Amino acid sequence: MLRLHTKGIRAVTNAREAVWSRLQALKQHKLADLFAADPARVDQLFASLSVGEGAVLFDWSKTHLTAEMLGLFAQLAEASQFDEMRRRLFAGEVVNPSEGRAAEHSALRGVGNPASVEEAEALRARMRLLVEAIHDGALGEVRHLIHIGIGGSALGPALAVDALARDLALVDVHVVSNIDGVALEAAFAACDPATTMIAVASKTFTTIETMTNAASALQWLEDNGVADPLGRVVALTAAPEKAVEWGVDETRVLPFANSVGGRYSLWSSIGFPVALAIGAEEFEAMLAGAAAMDLHFRDAALADNLPLRAAFADQYYTRARGCQTRAVFCYDERLGLLPAYLQQLEMESNGKSVTAEGAPVTFPTAPITWGGVGTDGQHAVFQLLHQGTNLVPVDFIASIAPGDQLDPAHHRILLMNCFAQGAALMAGKQSDDPARCYPGDRPSATILCDDLDPATVGALIAFHEHRTFANAVLMGINPFDQFGVELGKNIARAIEQGSESFDASTQGLLEAAGLGG
Ligand code: F6P
Repeated sequence: MLRLHTKGIRAVTNAREAVWSRLQALKQHKLADLFAADPARVDQLFASLSVGEGAVLFDWSKTHLTAEMLGLFAQLAEASQFDEMRRRLFAGEVVNPSEGRAAEHSALRGVGNPASVEEAEALRARMRLLVEAIHDGALGEVRHLIHIGIGGSALGPALAVDALARDLALVDVHVVSNIDGVALEAAFAACDPATTMIAVASKTFTTIETMTNAASALQWLEDNGVADPLGRVVALTAAPEKAVEWGVDETRVLPFANSVGGRYSLWSSIGFPVALAIGAEEFEAMLAGAAAMDLHFRDAALADNLPLRAAFADQYYTRARGCQTRAVFCYDERLGLLPAYLQQLEMESNGKSVTAEGAPVTFPTAPITWGGVGTDGQHAVFQLLHQGTNLVPVDFIASIAPGDQLDPAHHRILLMNCFAQGAALMAGKQSDDPARCYPGDRPSATILCDDLDPATVGALIAFHEHRTFANAVLMGINPFDQFGVELGKNIARAIEQGSESFDASTQGLLEAAGLGG
């Protein structure tokens, strides 16, 4: 991006650092003292946004954010030219300078450059026609879909299908990403080849894991008597010509724009398995929920902007308090794949060591994102959150409406545990026995949804996309490239080609595995 032209780079850096020295000079208060000192703290740090039929409530009161800090962070946003960067994002201008690209994921949801919105709508209408034709039986009986992709071409579909298609999957979807054949074999074992379609999802249509898995899936169809295996394939890609070259009929190639980043592509044709599983209308409801968050992020003032506020907390804990990780615990089984999704979104976007202008950064960038589901985490890793030596800011995410039909006790206990953890982390407890002491003053934020419907899932994901972007702006880095993943890919290719020799350790491993060297 976020290459700065309007002011000198040095001036922006200096302005940002000047605000940081004031932020770091602030006295650090304990959470309990902040509550005691300010009876209106909850009013100030609770915020809610209407999404679809319900709302999402955000509670940052158990973080160390204060009114004074929010004021300074707003100055940091101004010093970072946040308004201009956000304008460029939604205008479809270049925000990824190292690759000279825009980042137009919000246009897929109807919020962005009008020409890009129009193009996205036309592509979505095409996808909808295919989805509805499949539901209507135009391609014969389709009971299963094996969706093959990796990274951004798999994590979003896997999350959304798992979150939204539990009760009403119109088609049974299996997402396969790993090149380890064990993964594909597991999908084969669960599907009947006669009623299975294959989606090959790859922005570039060159990723070796995906193309190898796709070839094996075709072979599986053929070995099991499917007359025209390629006739069962749908391609989801920003390189439609490559998909056609590979053998997919043009009518089943669903393209998306090159200006949509892989980890932001769930809203494009990469979301095909979601639409197939829950229906095109529900898929569009998910997009509408994301659009509600887009409009909020685009239009809300700095002081009220939810993704920006989350980024303020992220910046505070990472830079001012030295937290190397942040945890996300979803008190909802349906969001079990959200932490993995956020790991790619946040770590592939903001795990950088140089600014957008290529200068070395002088501060920590993205923390490590990790997490899981509550209540399972409580009985496994929460020990460290409560008593470990690392300070870990935690996000709790929960839904007021249950996702199950069982005794309401299940959901009541789930929610009570969620809220108890935030309270316990903050309050701590003293004891004469050091092993039984809880230091407390450990921060958490809670995101509480009315219900986990498609619109809410869309809004939650879009919230995290914009939070990631806002963090990047505050740091002055480019969140939309990912050159860090290239070196390993190149070395794997060189190993395969036998074109280079490597260090003694790598050579030894290759020999031990019978891979030459
Ligand atoms: O290697 C990283 C990456 O490029 C991700 O950014 C991307 O989501 C993934 O690989 C898959 O790429 P493609 O969709 O082109 O197969």
